[in-house]
Amino acid sequence: MKNIIFPLIAMLWWAGASAQSVVSSGFPELDEWTGQCLADRPYALGYPGNYDGNLDGFYKWYTANNLGDVLINNAGDPFEKSGALSSAKFERDVIEYFAPLYGFDTSDLWGIVTMSGTDGNNHGIYFGVNYLKNKTGKMPVVYVSDEAHYSNYRLCDVQNLDVKLVKSDDMGRMIPGELEKSLDPTRPALIIYAMGSTFKGAVDDQKALQEVFDRHPEIPVYRHVDAALFGGYLPFTEYRNLVNRKEMAFESISISGHKFFGIDSPCGLFITTRNIYDNQNSFDVPYLNANMRMINCSRSGTDPLKFWWLTKTIGVDGWTKQAKAMMDNTQYLMSELRRIDWPCWNNTYSNTVFFRRPSDQIVTRYNLANSHDERFGGNLSHIVVMQHVTREMIDHFISDLKNDEPCERK
Ligand SMILES: Cc1ncc(COP(=O)(O)O)c(C=O)c1O
Repeated sequence: MKNIIFPLIAMLWWAGASAQSVVSSGFPELDEWTGQCLADRPYALGYPGNYDGNLDGFYKWYTANNLGDVLINNAGDPFEKSGALSSAKFERDVIEYFAPLYGFDTSDLWGIVTMSGTDGNNHGIYFGVNYLKNKTGKMPVVYVSDEAHYSNYRLCDVQNLDVKLVKSDDMGRMIPGELEKSLDPTRPALIIYAMGSTFKGAVDDQKALQEVFDRHPEIPVYRHVDAALFGGYLPFTEYRNLVNRKEMAFESISISGHKFFGIDSPCGLFITTRNIYDNQNSFDVPYLNANMRMINCSRSGTDPLKFWWLTKTIGVDGWTKQAKAMMDNTQYLMSELRRIDWPCWNNTYSNTVFFRRPSDQIVTRYNLANSHDERFGGNLSHIVVMQHVTREMIDHFISDLKNDEPCERK
């Protein structure tokens, strides 16, 4: 019976969800791809993209002015004089808009709109290394939890850095005692805080980890926050202090733009202080008439415009409402999973729910992300409750899950 009901529910839901018709491009393969994207969109539960972006007005304005014919390139420093056909002025506005939300003062500020959360982490690591090296003459050791996003570890490889993966607890938080055990007292420390971790949505306890460094005042420290997803919504919740440097003390932060903020292609924010910027290596580039301390030469001029548009059209009030709905829906998903006795877990502050992995059929249909952890019974999946994950969607998921079995029992 289960085999009949499941596809039937799915088909009805599919029919409603994919009702949006495709405007033909004149290229059949492109139209087919478009139709598939529109049909898949409501099922996108497993990854932290916001599929409810609000850029329609932006695109109307953009195309009405034929800006598609103009290359807008923000090569250079948005805090210096910018050249023609650059949107650097808006990029700077964006950094100045968001900086106070993360506890940075506009009087001591530097930042850029990045190409992604990973790009922001790359800058955090690169800036941290240069800052510590310039201050101490020694290369730092990087410390990051074994539950943090893989990009941090990968970037240390790219930058040829010594990195120590610090053990996390069951729920995914870096264990302060493990950090202390792994410290190298002869070299500076560059710590990356996961806010939160990718699969379990864990938030490293910055205060407890700082206490470890307080016990080792001989070790100079740079603290970078990888807040790819959580850095988007936490400033608009009661937990805002977790990403506020006045409360937590960190030197830089990276946030993705295509996650909570709903920008339709990968981008992000990298924010640090002027003091950190001033302690970077100087790269005077005569042909650009600029000091290029950031890693990339060409950078998008369109993404800062999209960010800027959102600050004007959504803003703090809109994001506060969105963050509340996401947190409420996260609790709704947890309560529904518990109601049907499906083992599930959720970290405080987190919009990520991880649970016993269902059948492959459900994993594929809802584009779930998978992991494995014996401490939680083996195979796991997670859902990231973004803006487009409504109660209706959760109800559909739960009704499918009720007819399913965790994959281990099969
Ligand atoms: C905690 C964390 N850091 C970094 C990243 C990478 O960000 P991006 O995909 O924007 O490069 C992710 C992506 O999911 C993430 O979850």
